[in-house]
Amino acid sequence: MNISKTISSLRNEIQPWRDQGLSIALVPTMGHLHAGHVALINAARKKCDKVVVSIFVNPLQFNEVSDFSAYPKTLEADQQKLIDVETDLLYLPDNKQMYPQGQEKISKVMVPDIGDDLEGSCRPGHFDGVATVVLKLFNQVQPDIAFFGEKDYQQLLLVRKMVRDLDLDIEINSVATYREKNGLAMSSRNSRLTEKQRIQAAELYAALNDLSDQLKSGETKVDKLEKQAKQKLKNAGFEPEYISVRDRSSLLPADNKTSNRIVLGAAKIGDIRLIDNIIVD
Ligand code: PAJ
Repeated sequence: MNISKTISSLRNEIQPWRDQGLSIALVPTMGHLHAGHVALINAARKKCDKVVVSIFVNPLQFNEVSDFSAYPKTLEADQQKLIDVETDLLYLPDNKQMYPQGQEKISKVMVPDIGDDLEGSCRPGHFDGVATVVLKLFNQVQPDIAFFGEKDYQQLLLVRKMVRDLDLDIEINSVATYREKNGLAMSSRNSRLTEKQRIQAAELYAALNDLSDQLKSGETKVDKLEKQAKQKLKNAGFEPEYISVRDRSSLLPADNKTSNRIVLGAAKIGDIRLIDNIIVD
């Protein structure tokens, strides 16, 4: 597996593939790779001739400096995992490569509405940072297809909207959330959980699942269900931020809907923030 740390090296690696007419996949990540990331890479491998994985812990999308500094970095182990799944190229830019003039004065992409709600309202500026770095990665790699996980469902819809709004010639593919045996969605942040917290953390999935089951069985009092789920999480030692039933395509509130729904949640255990979602119908 080759590694490019600069845009020019990246382009030198990719150009011959393009000249040969090979299809190119991009899997953007922030590293500390786990089985969820591997599922994306395997999906990319199946669909495209060449797979580029980027690892960049993007400071622009962290609204808390402490979360950024605590973000786990395990480059050596990541590289081995990427070799094991036959990644063709690792793109590993640093801050200087991504933000040569610093991140303060950079032009930003703002995706309205979808970027302001749920994660966007809990983490101001987060999605501007995500959209901006994803657009930069798209322009740098120029993939045919890019792969994103349903684990970050709002991010997936945000990227899709950006691609549509800005006429990017890139297909966005999504991959289902990969979970631990107890239901906990795999996440790089999980490694910061203690053994006890890891067991506790599965309650987020359980609460979303339970809410989803009640919706499916015809319960219509969405507000009541959301409150109950939050209370359940509080009882399990979480600090819930939101539990919300939404339309799966627009992410608008789905109080009166009986189809195409998704339930999304965010909750903290100690200082570790977890998000998850379940597609209801
Ligand atoms: P990161 O959290 O590293 O996730 C990279 C990709 O892996 C995202 O598309 C995410 O949705 C997917 N992913 C994470 N956990 C998953 C799981 N359990 N199952 C399936 N897919 C999963 O998301 C980011 O990085 C960043 O915001 C990024 C898009 C790279 C921009 O900086």
